[in-house]
Amino acid sequence: MSIKNLVVLASGGGTNLEALLVAEQAGELAIDGVGGRIVAVVSDVPDAGALEIARAFGVATAVVRPANFPDRALWDEALTKAVSAFSPDYVISAGFMRILGSTFLSSFGGLTINTHPALLPAFPGAHGVSDALAYGVKVTGCTVHLVDAGVDTGPILAQAAVAVQDDDTVASLHERIKEAERRLLVESVAKLCAFGVQSDGRKATFGN
Ligand code: GRF
Repeated sequence: MSIKNLVVLASGGGTNLEALLVAEQAGELAIDGVGGRIVAVVSDVPDAGALEIARAFGVATAVVRPANFPDRALWDEALTKAVSAFSPDYVISAGFMRILGSTFLSSFGGLTINTHPALLPAFPGAHGVSDALAYGVKVTGCTVHLVDAGVDTGPILAQAAVAVQDDDTVASLHERIKEAERRLLVESVAKLCAFGVQSDGRKATFGN
């Protein structure tokens, strides 16, 4: 079986990471014998729940904290080095709340996907769920996309819709989005590992 090595970037609680790890254990990160293996989790937040989840699954961890670097460019270089140490075929940004810089993208551009809790290009940025709710949309959702230099602007690989309910709060809506997001991310990572990804810079598809 051909295995792709994956590094997951995460800043938060890590439910997306956990879904990937559970899927890997269940053989669901593979299609027709070609699959992914999470070799490390890298975070910018030393006490991120995602790191605990990684340890519980016996996965290597690394932390690259922006506060330990004089500027963003040096942090970006250190992050790139930390990720490179695990020789990933692909990088999965799953709740990583930082913009990846030019050094990172020169190594892993085209090989990094991100999950976002809104239907891009609507509601990019750190407040995708609350922005959608405040705007009054009736349908929102989640997007898996290739990472480029912008904020949630990269070519879209997959999306799932989630209906907004009249009595939704940010928390209740985000919870339903995260259910859809976990499924979409697992499915997307499996396809990425099995088929690769191609993009013209705007439109992207799994396959090569
Ligand atoms: C996800 O909804 C992700 O898209 C957003 O933050 C959430 C992270 O959740 N950026 P978790 O850390 O995977 O639980």
